[in-house]
Amino acid sequence: MKRITIKEIIKKKGKKPIVCLSAYSKNFAEIIDKHCDIILVGDSLGMVIYGMKTTKEVKLETMILHAKAVKKHTQKSLVVFDMPFKSVTNKFVTYKNAKQVLKKTKCDAIKIEGGKKTSKLIKYLTTKGIPVMGHIGMLPQYSSKYKLKGKSFREKKRILNDAIAVAKSGAFAIVIECVVEKLAKEITKKIKIPTIGIGASKHCDGQILVTDDMIGLSNFYPKFVKKYSNIRKMVEKSVKNYCRDVKLRRFPSSRYVYN
Ligand code: KIV
Repeated sequence: MKRITIKEIIKKKGKKPIVCLSAYSKNFAEIIDKHCDIILVGDSLGMVIYGMKTTKEVKLETMILHAKAVKKHTQKSLVVFDMPFKSVTNKFVTYKNAKQVLKKTKCDAIKIEGGKKTSKLIKYLTTKGIPVMGHIGMLPQYSSKYKLKGKSFREKKRILNDAIAVAKSGAFAIVIECVVEKLAKEITKKIKIPTIGIGASKHCDGQILVTDDMIGLSNFYPKFVKKYSNIRKMVEKSVKNYCRDVKLRRFPSSRYVYN
């Protein structure tokens, strides 16, 4: 099976919605790979998997382990590695880290949070052949509070300028997180590369959610998350039933025993 290319992702802009989800492990990667264009190994794993308060403490080595597992168990989606906060410093260190990440994980691209201020760094990386996805609007690596962005004229202008700068720096797509609908629409119209929205309306060229939120596993449900199932409830029910059966010596019954 052929893996989708960055060129093919870009070509979808304005034509076909780009479907993205996060994954941190083999089982989820295998399922998501069948249906999505892009899988993001997001640093949200800090909170979702490791119970951290923010993504700031996530280590590069941890991300590499998860990304290796995800990439190994996918065939058709573009796998994007989310560079954790501490791995993005000056351009030389960031380039060294990005090169190491792509070599070790075989991921197809990296994602970096930040707008205009980060665009010089993105330019340096893309010029050196590192495919980069940008991330603007609400930036979890810089703010621990989930807050809608782009309400004031000033903030709207700043985020629009962020988008333009990141697009010009050679990024192949931009995640726009938690911004007002009108702004997401304007950015999507203005820039030539695909916009991937999370809490940024249907006007983006694609959508992404954290899978654990979308399936109702994480207990994190801001307004923009549609819960497509309630896996937490299902797991709880299974655990409760198993415990009951063990206590009543109903499990393992003869069906589950080697004779
Ligand atoms: O870390 C992550 O999962 C992300 C998405 C929320 C876009 O950055």
